[in-house]
Amino acid sequence: MSYASKILIVDDEPQACESLKVLLSNQGYETQTCYNGKEAIELLTRGSFDLVLLDIVMPDMSGFHVMDYINSQKPKPLVIVITGHATVASAVESLRRGACDYLTKPYDFIQLIDGVENALEQSRLKKEHEIVHRKLRQAERQYRLLVNASPDIVYALNHKGEFTFVNAAVERLLGYKQSRLFGKHYSSIVSEKDIDKAKYHFNERRTGVRATRGMELRLKHFQNNGVPNKFLPVELVAMGMYDRSVDQKDKELMGTYGVARDIAHRKRHEPQLLQAHKMEAIGTLAGGIAHDFNNLLMVIQGSASLMLMDMDSTHPYYIRLKNIEKQVQSGAELTSRLIGYARMGKYEVKTVDLNHLVCEASDTFGRTKKEITIHRELGEDLCTIEADVAQVQQVLLDLFVNAADAMPGGGDLILKTMNTTHESLKGKLYDPKPGNYVQLTITDTGIGMGKQTIERIFDPFFTTKKMGRGTGLGLASVYGIIKGHGGYIDVESKKGHGTTFSIFLPAPEKPHLKVVETAKPSIKGAGTILLVDDEEAVLESGRDFLEAMDYSVFLARDGKEAIEVYRKNQDDIDIVILDIATPDMNGGEAYDRMKEINPGLKVLLSSGNRIDWQATDILERGCDGFIRKPFSIRELSGKIWEILKKD
Ligand SMILES: Nc1ncnc2c1ncn2[C@@H]1O[C@H](COP(=O)(O)OP(=O)(O)OP(=O)(O)O)[C@@H](O)[C@H]1O
Ligand SMILES: [Mg+2]
Repeated sequence: MSYASKILIVDDEPQACESLKVLLSNQGYETQTCYNGKEAIELLTRGSFDLVLLDIVMPDMSGFHVMDYINSQKPKPLVIVITGHATVASAVESLRRGACDYLTKPYDFIQLIDGVENALEQSRLKKEHEIVHRKLRQAERQYRLLVNASPDIVYALNHKGEFTFVNAAVERLLGYKQSRLFGKHYSSIVSEKDIDKAKYHFNERRTGVRATRGMELRLKHFQNNGVPNKFLPVELVAMGMYDRSVDQKDKELMGTYGVARDIAHRKRHEPQLLQAHKMEAIGTLAGGIAHDFNNLLMVIQGSASLMLMDMDSTHPYYIRLKNIEKQVQSGAELTSRLIGYARMGKYEVKTVDLNHLVCEASDTFGRTKKEITIHRELGEDLCTIEADVAQVQQVLLDLFVNAADAMPGGGDLILKTMNTTHESLKGKLYDPKPGNYVQLTITDTGIGMGKQTIERIFDPFFTTKKMGRGTGLGLASVYGIIKGHGGYIDVESKKGHGTTFSIFLPAPEKPHLKVVETAKPSIKGAGTILLVDDEEAVLESGRDFLEAMDYSVFLARDGKEAIEVYRKNQDDIDIVILDIATPDMNGGEAYDRMKEINPGLKVLLSSGNRIDWQATDILERGCDGFIRKPFSIRELSGKIWEILKKD
């Protein structure tokens, strides 16, 4: 660092002044002179000097007065007193007032130059020291602020394991005053159950360089009176501090420093996260089985329906075939619940008034269960929701039936709806998407459930009912359907004190989606149909179906073939029945390519419910309808009739 060294020479003898000026200028210093105390004070007021060479005896005022003025300045220059009347008293007085040197006239020039250089060097060092100190103080303040703002506990321990530093987070997280921890051993805040683990890791630092990472510990949380009342789980990262470089063998541990992070929230959510993963995995499995099973049922249903078409009800096989149809229906119901659970079936999305659905479903249910009194407290101006009506009906029915089963001798079923927002979901175990929600609560006064049952109720096939009474798929599919609608479900129950299910469904303000209406019954039709499906058996039974309904049929086994057949026969084909999951390309792509050939093309989408978003997406793009496999001949003819009627 280099500083301009400016020197002021104050002496009532002009000659002495000027000779000093020449001498110091020759040494490269910038100098100014004056001949009395008043002038000196004026110059000191106007400019800043590094050094003043000051005569003590002057006619207008003593040099000591000038020193008093200098001492009041900030920053103050250094002073070397030069006097012709040296006494011990004046020397002592000069030094007492802060002079850094004292010279008597006549002085030796070399001694003077040495004195000046020495003084200026001191001044320079002092300035440097001040700057370094200021920077250090700033850096320290900045780090203290940063460390104290950390949500994690940041700490340092000495080699004995006593706290030498801890940040403010300790007070918030452990209720322990920062200052009271200094000097305390770390074991005083670690749960007794984890002391051995903590000691092992601390001692490991004496020999091992490796840091401790991700170690979980329970720390004591202290109440106001200093008594621990609970434990806070933390995750620790800690490093050793050594007296020399870490790779040296004979290094000694000076202490450790580290960070402890509060993981209480994560710990609380861990079981839920595991549960969600488990549900996800079982859902995938269930969905896969249901899909293949559906195709199988489709073929059985098709064959039975075809046989029944040409059969008189007096035929000996008529009843058996009807039985097959009935069993296929039960099978289809099972797969549809599995699909609900697998969250794969949200297709026919409409803007729906939940109050209306609740009224309808509870009216129907009330008629069959006279011993149950239904109370409805339905919120006015309830927001609409975007939902698959059939699925919401299934949810309501499942919950009503469960409530009824829990009240075998009768009881009350209380249904409430209201508008709410994600705010009211805070504090629950899940992390809701922000926005408006519609809340439905279903309360019964039945037998209630214990904690162990509650933990498992959403698991597929979990039932406490007798063999043949329950499959344990009701709440699993309710859960899947609500999730599939972007909603949340909660349960509160106590043995002997009834149960309340709360359902939250998002209420977005979105334009209405295209509504797929239900089919009108009409079996026979006329026209040509291209049927696209990758399953040979489905193709065959589908063709039989369609031909039985008097349609002409083209078949295609994948997207490419479908496009090819359509390109060649587009003038003849009235409607395409397109399976959503063709092996070579997805249904959406095949749909788009055929639409390019003819924008007026009519398409009925079919699926065993495998891919939810794809179907919804294609429907939103203007596809004409959707049919879920396995479908009966009546359902299929209804959908085709519906689409063709639009002309
Ligand atoms: N409202 C309720 N009150 C008391 N227990 C209930 C209630 N709802 C569900 N449960 C318990 O949760 C279990 C699982 O319910 P879930 O609806 O999934 O299957 P299920 O009713 O046993 O059979 P399924 O609905 O397939 O016919 C029930 O067997 C019952 O023990
Ligand atoms: Mg049930």
